[in-house]
Amino acid sequence: MKRALTLIGASILLASTTQLHAQSGDPRAGESLHKEANCLSCHTANPYSTAKTPSFERLIAAVSFCNVNLNTGWFEDEVLDVATYLNEKYYKYVIE
Ligand code: HEC
Repeated sequence: MKRALTLIGASILLASTTQLHAQSGDPRAGESLHKEANCLSCHTANPYSTAKTPSFERLIAAVSFCNVNLNTGWFEDEVLDVATYLNEKYYKYVIE
């Protein structure tokens, strides 16, 4: 039991580290996904802005938020691809 808990703890730690040191995804795949999902139907009137989303990590969270709420059905790697594309086009944060 104790061992199982340690394992769970380790994977939570691992997951949060991955989140913090977010790697970039594939911006070209992200561009197609973004187009197919018609995100601009809302975000033309409500443009993407660095004021609302002040870091790449927050950008991933925001894409994930809309993905979940709109039931777009993207997997985590697709969310990352779209965030990478939006970063390249609008936000321009340096991704390490
Ligand atoms: C039904 C309208 C709607 C659609 C469609 C939509 N969003 Fe959003 N989105 C919102 C709202 C509302 C917010 C909350 C913050 C705001 O007011 O911008 C938001 C916030 C965001 C943000 C952070 C805001 C910023 O300016 O940095 C991102 C990034 C984002 N959405 C990405 C997406 C992506 C990717 C899609 C396509 C899957 C999508 N959204 C589709 C309504 C929408």
